Amino acid sequence: MTHQSPLPRRLHVITWGCQMNVYDSARMTDVLAPLGYATTDTPEEADMVILNTCHIRDRAAEKVFSELGRLRRVKEARAAAGAPTILAVAGCVAQAEGKEILARAPYVDIVLGPQTYHRLPEMVARAARAGGAVIETDFPAEDKFDHLPAPGPASGVSAFLTIQEGCDKFCSFCVVPYTRGAEASRPAAAVLAEARHLVAGGAREIVLLGQNVNAWHGAGPQGGVWTLAALLQELAAIPGLLRLRYTTSHPRDMDAGLIAAHRDIPALMPFLHLPVQSGSDRILAAMNRGHTAAQYRETIAALREARPDLALSSDFIVGHPGESEADFQATMDLIAAVGFAQAFSFKYSPRPGTPAAGVPAQVAEAEKDRRLQALQALLREQQAAFNAACAGRRLGVLITGAGRHPGQIAGRSPYLQPVHLNGPDHLAGQEVAVDILAAHTNSLSGALAFPSTAAIPQATLQQERVCA
Ligand code: SAH
Ligand code: SF4
Ligand code: F3S
Repeated sequence: MTHQSPLPRRLHVITWGCQMNVYDSARMTDVLAPLGYATTDTPEEADMVILNTCHIRDRAAEKVFSELGRLRRVKEARAAAGAPTILAVAGCVAQAEGKEILARAPYVDIVLGPQTYHRLPEMVARAARAGGAVIETDFPAEDKFDHLPAPGPASGVSAFLTIQEGCDKFCSFCVVPYTRGAEASRPAAAVLAEARHLVAGGAREIVLLGQNVNAWHGAGPQGGVWTLAALLQELAAIPGLLRLRYTTSHPRDMDAGLIAAHRDIPALMPFLHLPVQSGSDRILAAMNRGHTAAQYRETIAALREARPDLALSSDFIVGHPGESEADFQATMDLIAAVGFAQAFSFKYSPRPGTPAAGVPAQVAEAEKDRRLQALQALLREQQAAFNAACAGRRLGVLITGAGRHPGQIAGRSPYLQPVHLNGPDHLAGQEVAVDILAAHTNSLSGALAFPSTAAIPQATLQQERVCA
């Protein structure tokens, strides 16, 4: 061969963990695009593989090492064929166990923490040049958001936008304050600019993200500090943006202004994920959550007064150290009293370096299993009841794209339920009125209420939106 033209480079990203990791993976892809990297679904084709990791529960590190073992074989097979591969580990395990990763998996080229993604091009250059491993797990003085490029052109109908990072709350069980660092809010102007960019790229729904999203208090464009409620008001005014959501919130930061926003901003969807973790005041105190079960219920009552059809979601942990049967029953009572449209629940998992992990009174594994099963049965029942109550109603559904079967399209209800229906693909990005015909465990199916009209007048939808 006499002439070699440079081949386009391929990037494969594996994402574990929360929505913030999904957002981060997209931004790492954006930051590498100018270097010629386009994404591929196949690691065997990839010149660079990023494993974006999560440290929240279970044997997170072991999962990372077993995936790295698989990627090592891919890297070796490619090397044998003359193709080098850069292997990078990002995310919260990288932050927490960076050195350990390089010690146990020396074939890894780059280890980078969540605050250093903007430096990725430079790390790639260093890794390629030096042939040695690069590790970046500091919390740099500069703000990564000031150095990351705008998101790529195709946003998708529903887009994530990180507005806040980190956490200062130090719940007894949680690694996030250690892996993501101190709480920090992006300035309002930067958030608004990114939101406009996303809408120009086709986004019709924006989901604001933060480990403690409702603790957001960003600098205002004219000085001063904005609240999340003020930011939501301003975002709702962006032409073309139909829906707003935010996640994950802490009950302590659910202030009166934000509660009122659920009444005053129609684009703010009637669904809120508000983790409570436990219904026992004793355990809530041990967890350092900073509120009681009664205070959580008062917040829910105020939210429901502001937005009567608000659907609620939460996170629960069973078997936190010291949790007795009575404490667990208090959690079951809280669930019964509130009624959740959906929820996530976990067995307590000791995380190295967190206060709860060192407490002697750990709950036996079999007991955690039993409690989790009972709790999940109750939550499943509530979810089924909520979904069933939507059957026979007409809901506004934001169509996100093609469905599973030919001729089918899919979207989301205001309450975040996936909805399947027959319809043309060109409805993607529109909010259409859908008659809900059947409820399933995790989704709804229905039919277009006005099949002959492509777009539904907004006025019709506003009236038809209410489900519960
Ligand atoms: N910032 C959010 C939650 C972030 S982590 C909040 O404060 O609510 C997501 C969820 O994982 C938590 O709500 C909690 O339910 C669960 N979780 C976190 N650490 C855990 C641990 N050590 N064991 C089990 N579940 C855990
Ligand atoms: Fe973790 Fe608690 Fe912070 Fe949520 S508020 S991220 S659970 S420490
Ligand atoms: Fe996991 Fe880190 Fe998110 S630990 S849940 S990826 S903040």
